[in-house]
Amino acid sequence: MAMIERTEWYDLLRATNWTPKYVTEDELFPEEMSGHRGIPIEDWETYDEPYKVTYPEYVEIQREKDAGAYSVKAALARDKFLERADPGWISILQAHYGALALAEYGAIVGEARMARFSKAPGNRNMATFGMMDETRHAQLQLFFPHANCKLDRKWDWAHKALHTNEWAALAGRHFFEDIIHSRDAISMGIMLTFAFETGFTNMQFLGLAADAAEAGDHTFSSLISSIQTDESRHAQQGGPMVKLLVEKGMKADAQRLIDIAFWRSWKLFSVLTGPMMDYYTPMEHRSQSFKEFMQEWIVGQFERSILDMGLDKPWYWDQFLRDLDETHHGMHLGVWYWRPTVWWNPRAGVNPDEREWLEEKYPGWNDTFGKCWDVIIDNLVNDRVEQTLPETLPLVCNMSNIPIVGTPADGWNVKDYPLKYKDRLYHFGSEPDRWCFEQEPERYADHLSFVDRFLAGMMEPMDLSGALKYMSLAPGEIGEDAYGLAWADIYKEMAHKKAG
Ligand SMILES: [Fe+2]
Ligand SMILES: [Fe+2]
Repeated sequence: MAMIERTEWYDLLRATNWTPKYVTEDELFPEEMSGHRGIPIEDWETYDEPYKVTYPEYVEIQREKDAGAYSVKAALARDKFLERADPGWISILQAHYGALALAEYGAIVGEARMARFSKAPGNRNMATFGMMDETRHAQLQLFFPHANCKLDRKWDWAHKALHTNEWAALAGRHFFEDIIHSRDAISMGIMLTFAFETGFTNMQFLGLAADAAEAGDHTFSSLISSIQTDESRHAQQGGPMVKLLVEKGMKADAQRLIDIAFWRSWKLFSVLTGPMMDYYTPMEHRSQSFKEFMQEWIVGQFERSILDMGLDKPWYWDQFLRDLDETHHGMHLGVWYWRPTVWWNPRAGVNPDEREWLEEKYPGWNDTFGKCWDVIIDNLVNDRVEQTLPETLPLVCNMSNIPIVGTPADGWNVKDYPLKYKDRLYHFGSEPDRWCFEQEPERYADHLSFVDRFLAGMMEPMDLSGALKYMSLAPGEIGEDAYGLAWADIYKEMAHKKAG
């Protein structure tokens, strides 16, 4: 069969729009779904996504990627890697799957919104592939952990987590519903693909792929590399949207969307990826510290890309750079301490050699976060385990829905940023979190944080057991220390030697 050369038809096809006959253009592309902002359709036709692919090419490449990931899994199934893997590594996988598998499903909705409602034909074309990408990601990240359910029911949280009111799941849902499910196609495209995907998923996927390969987990490494190759393609949809908005004098609009999505992404990564990289990954397998990754991917690459678009660095940039030294250490300390409230087993990661590594990567760590760990270690050495477990709940931010943290010890700087809105008092973990709320208070005002729900009597009985029940954390799913506290033995020996 004679085929027309790709170059002869591709641009015409990907930029095809049509003139509606039975409905008006506004009915076809209602503003609240489309987000066209009154920019004429001819201008949207100039939208030029940098990555071009045809359907036959797409199918061929994706088939190979899928075959690759699934066959690595099948080939290594008998290797029983998980049975000899470090418990900290297992925790990374369980936390990752629970937080991300169904978020990928959510991303399908976002891609679908662009595929249907974007006025830019090139965007609709690319988003159709994006939908199929995200479907693949959700399938892969549900299928892989499913095989492990027989080993431990925490694996089931890949599917379960986002259906529960577990606090980290609540935080994830609040974020994804904000940036994906409740915005027009263009706002969503900028927030999800430009801010979250180019900014942050690189971190989770490239950073963890490197650590996974180091740790010998070739199944997970090939899975997430396979996903990342899709991300790096469909994440390019947001850039041309920003470019068009800037050209049309709507820079402030684009800037605001990015500033919100970037800050919110950062807070989620500080509680998820930060502890994984600096505490859960066994030290000998760490390729870089979380801060080094952030500096390379976010500070280096993302900062350049926003400046290239004609935007400014977010107004809170200096604070963000300072927080790279603090936030995730506080989050880790909190998650470990409140370990029964998560669906994975937090790994403390504070052995003497690990503390040395932390001090080297984060000078001053021993005098700040280290001092809190000293208290925990002292309790463990003296068999007061109950004092290393929570009885109350932490103060939670009404924007990020994660605990409000700061740097402990002499420079104690934890601070609540309150805001009164329509007779209700809200608490925020930072100035930017409060600023996000102030951008559109009605969007967020009715949401109850985990602590708000506790105080409203939604958990019975009103103690940790009631909170665990509310979070659907059953026995066997409730988080414990990754090593059953055996890591503290070395400190017991040290204390013994000192005493003897
Ligand atoms: Fe994805
Ligand atoms: Fe994606």
